[in-house]
Amino acid sequence: MSAGAIAMTKSYHNLPPLAGLCNFTDAQRTGLSVEDCVSWMKVHHYLLVRLHEILTARITAEPIYELKTAFSHHAYLCAEHVAAIRTRVSELREPPLGLDVVPHAGLKLLGDEILASPSHVELLLGVYEVVVPRLIESLEHYLATTNPLADAPTVRLTRFCLLEMNDLAEFGTRAIACLVTDADRLRLADWTALLNQCLPQHGREATNPLPPPQFSATPYQYDAVPRRDERFHDSYNGGVNPEAFLYDERFSARDKTLMLFYKRLREIDVPEMMASIIHQTPGKPWGFYLDMSRQLWDEARHAMLGEVGFVHLGLDWSRIPINFTWSLNLNTQLTPQERHAVLFFIEQTLMPKTGKRYEWEVGKESGDPLAALIQDFDWADEVLHAQIGREWYVKDFGDLRDALDYGDKCWSKVMSQWRRYLESGLTEHRNWWPEMYAAACQKWDATPDPAAMQFQTTYEDTRADLKNISASA
Ligand SMILES: [Fe+2]
Ligand SMILES: [Fe+2]
Repeated sequence: MSAGAIAMTKSYHNLPPLAGLCNFTDAQRTGLSVEDCVSWMKVHHYLLVRLHEILTARITAEPIYELKTAFSHHAYLCAEHVAAIRTRVSELREPPLGLDVVPHAGLKLLGDEILASPSHVELLLGVYEVVVPRLIESLEHYLATTNPLADAPTVRLTRFCLLEMNDLAEFGTRAIACLVTDADRLRLADWTALLNQCLPQHGREATNPLPPPQFSATPYQYDAVPRRDERFHDSYNGGVNPEAFLYDERFSARDKTLMLFYKRLREIDVPEMMASIIHQTPGKPWGFYLDMSRQLWDEARHAMLGEVGFVHLGLDWSRIPINFTWSLNLNTQLTPQERHAVLFFIEQTLMPKTGKRYEWEVGKESGDPLAALIQDFDWADEVLHAQIGREWYVKDFGDLRDALDYGDKCWSKVMSQWRRYLESGLTEHRNWWPEMYAAACQKWDATPDPAAMQFQTTYEDTRADLKNISASA
């Protein structure tokens, strides 16, 4: 090598060359053309689309709360990376339409098998021990192969995807250690072998011919009925109306924070319902799935913020009923569009002075900074959700007023079964409030307010927006 050639690899004052992206050796890689990069990204895209689909589809009927909330999170992350890849592929002289093609028949079978798997045991193994690790392997291989300077925009989004896929893998490893036994692994050895046969091996096609399907031999049936684990009980209970307490001026802001934590935790029914809209509304632009998945994840976070509120007060939320009739009724009685209408209507009614701002003011006035912080972010999230509703519900519907009226009507239809639950013995609508309130007062080292102790307004004839249940009842 001539002295001149050596000098050319030196940067000015030894500054990091090439904007810090890489060294000169890596910048001379020629392994992947634009076409190669696109076909590689299409595999990642397909796996992420299927992960999003599988995790979303299983949120509603998965009983374990920690899995329900983690699936909500992970589905959202997958949706974000799908969107990033779609944008990048569209920058590479490729019509985005090509993204809807299944890259390998094996990958389709892989997704179908995990989607149709019978319980969280199979699901955890399939998602977190097969798909996510292989995706991570492929993302790492991509980074080691593509030209880091010429393909810098893909490198950037791939690094970000890798970061979050590693988070998924870590959660999966820990969840599997808690929930999957050696006997499960033995029982499922043939099935996990089948999944591995579906994956292309380092650029080669998957095993050819593909093995016959096991779980997906019968086409997957979506289960829209929400399920909860054993910490949840008396789920039809409508014996306490938190909104009536919150808007009653007789009660203190501190006492209201307990009801706010309850209301937040009860929001676990929103992911259960939204998952059904996402799963049962095919053929929308990806932006719909991305925005709806973001909102779904926000609602799961709101539930967890409520859970944190109970931990903060040293109270055991599993002693009280966390009602699920909203997600149950919407999912089993309304069409996906009607469910979206109800969601939009409720979120619109949360926006005025008496809604989310008020809840935040209660939090601030209570003197509990955590209650204020939870409501501050909850309010911000709800503003975003109202925008998402305008984008993906109202536009399809047309007129805003009609869209709201329709949501109001649909909601009345499902809010009116309080008496039927009582009469059919599904619940006694037990008033759980005094007991939980008394426990909170002990933690606060405060004397219970006698009026608050006597609070006994139910949902019998009032909806959560304090409208009476009338004609439709
Ligand atoms: Fe929420
Ligand atoms: Fe919301």
